[in-house]
Amino acid sequence: MDETIFYGESVEERIKRRFSESSTNRNMDSENPFYVGDLGEIHRQHMKWKSLLPRIEPFYAVKCNPDPLAVKYLASLGVGFDCASKTEMEQALYSGADASRIIYAQPTKQLSFLKYAHQNNISLMTFDSQEELLKIKNSYPEAKLVLRILVDDTHSAIPLGRKYGAPIQTVESLLHIAKNLKLNVVGVSFHVGSGCTHANAFYHAIARARDVFDQAKSIGFSFDLLDVGGGFNESTITSDKGATFEDVAKVLGPTVDEMFPSNNVRVIAEPGRYYVGGPAYTLCVGIVGRRTIEEGQTRKYMYYLNDGFYGSFLMPTLDKIKLNPKVLRKDGKYYYDHVLKDEKTYPCTIWGPTGCSLDCVIKDGKLPELNAGDWLYFEKFGAYSVTAATTFNGFEKPDMIHVNSFKE
Ligand SMILES: Cc1ncc(COP(=O)(O)O)c(C=O)c1O
Repeated sequence: MDETIFYGESVEERIKRRFSESSTNRNMDSENPFYVGDLGEIHRQHMKWKSLLPRIEPFYAVKCNPDPLAVKYLASLGVGFDCASKTEMEQALYSGADASRIIYAQPTKQLSFLKYAHQNNISLMTFDSQEELLKIKNSYPEAKLVLRILVDDTHSAIPLGRKYGAPIQTVESLLHIAKNLKLNVVGVSFHVGSGCTHANAFYHAIARARDVFDQAKSIGFSFDLLDVGGGFNESTITSDKGATFEDVAKVLGPTVDEMFPSNNVRVIAEPGRYYVGGPAYTLCVGIVGRRTIEEGQTRKYMYYLNDGFYGSFLMPTLDKIKLNPKVLRKDGKYYYDHVLKDEKTYPCTIWGPTGCSLDCVIKDGKLPELNAGDWLYFEKFGAYSVTAATTFNGFEKPDMIHVNSFKE
């Protein structure tokens, strides 16, 4: 990966530089797809978080986009990390995060990962079952445990509750088991679901967490940690995504203060999409081939890209995200941020590069007439994209290049 960060350069300038460099650099395959990450956007999101939710410490969910430069940058800003595996914990530590700024937020843990957490003093971790309590008792009895509870996640694009989160009726028995095992349960976590569209989902989840704090007190625990999970949208535009970050902050901040007035309760969150799902990442993909289909008077095109369903588009496709390809380069001319006015468009399908017919990115597109060698781009493409990309059929994951547009 190219570790150079171009300060003050715009995304458009960086894209042009990439094309001009790849024409002279023999080691760079100019036909590979690439992302441009703008660390300045991540920085601005962080400033906004601090100003709107000053009491809540963000622990970035590495799974959302483990771009090494972004993780290092976030560590340098003092952000903590939500990690789900040994690899993510290693990355967070390597990037400069202190073990105390990491939560191992995977309720079901691989034993070897749990041992890794122990060896590296990553003591904060979630659980939601008695089986996990027994595992932790055997491998890391001093761990600081956070009970992940089930909350209403029906107002989200990707509900997580059918997999994780202890149903409220199991909470009392779990806490008793933990007490009998002399384990150190320190608080509660929840996740309202990724891409949450209702700010009030946080209100109800916090009310439920408050009940669990009170229940825990009666069993002899003294909780001091509330983890409000992820689910924060990156966008400031309400549109079809429902609640913006601002909407959520207006509910979340006051609700936390009302229900957890004591500053003795530390409040953390696990935002993923919020940091990297906005303008921070642009995906640039090349057209490597085309087929023309004549159907009566209608002409259609099939475009084949250098990235596809088995690459960056896997999770966006499964999540049914509406894709909006824009023309980046056509006949050697750049159109970044420019609308191609008066250009005739044609119906098209857009395919990834592998031999699999499931590898279709867009089934009903409309684009100007393009050809092999032309490029498209997808804006706001950093969340749950490259992180799930495979190398099926030998197609490599896109490169990552960076700018930093942040100004004090
Ligand atoms: C435990 C946990 N925390 C945080 C996140 C990040 O969620 P989001 O990107 O919606 O903020 C996820 C996403 O799946 C998750 O599973």
